[in-house]
Amino acid sequence: MIDFKSEIAKEISKVTNIDEKQLKEYIEIPPNSDLGDYAFPCFKLAKELRKAPPVIANEIKEKIKIDENIIEKIEIIGGYLNIYINKITLSKNLLEEVYKRKEQYGSSNIGNGAHVVIDYSAPNIAKPFHIGHLRSTVIGGSLYKIYNFLGYKSVGINYLGDWGLQFGKVMAGYDMWKDEYDFTENEIQSILKIYIRFNQEEKEKPELTEKAREYFKRLEDGNEKETKMWQWIRKISLENYQKTYDLLNSKFDSYNGEAYYNDKMQPIVEELEEKGLLVESEGARVVPLDQYDMPPCIIITSAGTTIYATRDLASLKERIKKYDFSKAIYVVGNEQRLHFKQVFKVLELMGYEKYAERCEHVPFGLVVDKKGEKIGSRKGNSVFLEDILKEAIQKVEKIIDEKNPNLENKEEVARKVGVGAIIFNDLANSRIKDEIFDWDMLLNFQGETGPYIQYIYVRTNSVLEKAGYVPEIEKVDFSKLQEKEALETIKLLYRFNEFVESAAQKNEPSIVSRYLIDVAQNFSGFYNEHKIITEDKTVQDARLALTYAVGIVLKTGVTLLGMEMPSKM
Ligand code: ARG
Repeated sequence: MIDFKSEIAKEISKVTNIDEKQLKEYIEIPPNSDLGDYAFPCFKLAKELRKAPPVIANEIKEKIKIDENIIEKIEIIGGYLNIYINKITLSKNLLEEVYKRKEQYGSSNIGNGAHVVIDYSAPNIAKPFHIGHLRSTVIGGSLYKIYNFLGYKSVGINYLGDWGLQFGKVMAGYDMWKDEYDFTENEIQSILKIYIRFNQEEKEKPELTEKAREYFKRLEDGNEKETKMWQWIRKISLENYQKTYDLLNSKFDSYNGEAYYNDKMQPIVEELEEKGLLVESEGARVVPLDQYDMPPCIIITSAGTTIYATRDLASLKERIKKYDFSKAIYVVGNEQRLHFKQVFKVLELMGYEKYAERCEHVPFGLVVDKKGEKIGSRKGNSVFLEDILKEAIQKVEKIIDEKNPNLENKEEVARKVGVGAIIFNDLANSRIKDEIFDWDMLLNFQGETGPYIQYIYVRTNSVLEKAGYVPEIEKVDFSKLQEKEALETIKLLYRFNEFVESAAQKNEPSIVSRYLIDVAQNFSGFYNEHKIITEDKTVQDARLALTYAVGIVLKTGVTLLGMEMPSKM
């Protein structure tokens, strides 16, 4: 596909003798297409060329040789060159490319097979699956797909929180109260109830905490009874998570979590020791970080045990060895910002600065209701992710029953739309913002939602179905696509890869979700203004080709977000 930016940069380079790559970086997309399809800000060259921007603009415009197949015209406004590209060339290039590459359209190989390790989901076993873990699961899952689409090799790691005092609490509680709970049907619910009750009761009875510590100590020492129980709790928790992962279509390459590293800590502690990084502090062993304006990173607690940061360092070293990663991404809530800054700094101090630079904490905001109140924070009100997803599916089933009761595969469509609505809502805005969770909003078929995009996609399908064919691209007359809405849509489709790359660069899937809303709205504008099925066959063919391309990009795009596309709804 022709790269208009490169073509423009090449020509400007010829008349200015400035490096083409550098020029290409300067090229902008005007906020409004009346100002051209591309704009070149001449003030960027003022210093180098020692001339005023309007003078530079005039000189470039005069000297530049334009190929009318590529550039239609150039205008000067202020110090800007406003560049209008040849729309027929654009449409032809874009549509041919989409026809040729189909689901692969928009992908690239900038990753060149390099590993990107993505640490996401990571719920804490025996504790409630916090709604924050939904965000991590969804954001990480999308990044996983985005990186693969760009030729990287994504490695998804579900670093389970499967070690810690919470096990001691559940075990102690279980031994005291097991007869009061039902362990035949929903074991996991009962485990959680015990955990929550234990937390409440220990506030008044500190001896309970002591008891939990004893249980956990026995687990750490490899005591048989506790080890068996740990295995059982981990197993039923994983089975329970799996239901949610199945609904979300989440996949992981590894489930090695904190427990896995627990007996692999000696080497990392020794290495820190050898490198002279550990100091004694109030009975604990820490890496001081005051030079970097951070509290010390505790490696061994005063009780002699390793902790969260120690385990993260051990796992990082393993990830370096195993994957030699080009990026290591941690999709974890904002409240762990300091933890990751400390861990990455210690890695750097250990002499792995090359890898420390490649590590990135990808934080996200809370989930709140319409009034801004945190969801799932009320006491004892643990939100089950699976329940939320099921509720979404049921709500969509109801809508289908009202609007389209004869739809085939109702259940499957309801799943794709319901789960898609939840996923999209999570990715709709920049991740660091709090996510507003409101059923009416996220299921609104007219809003900026997942269901809206799916609905527009389904419309592209039904138009093609009504026409009864997808036109052969060789026969399409691209000059028939001249309407503003059509051209805006084509320009967006043309830039698909640019948005995906930017989403990867910023670890921000919302760049893709906003883009898809834009495509859907532009196409919908076109569709509402201009009949696609129409008397003039050449016009119809051109419009159908565009409709087909929109469908492909919408479908690929939602797949990158982790959603699925229904073909009818
Ligand atoms: N289990 C942790 C939590 O829920 C998140 C783990 C994130 N990953 C990591 N490598 N520390 O708070």
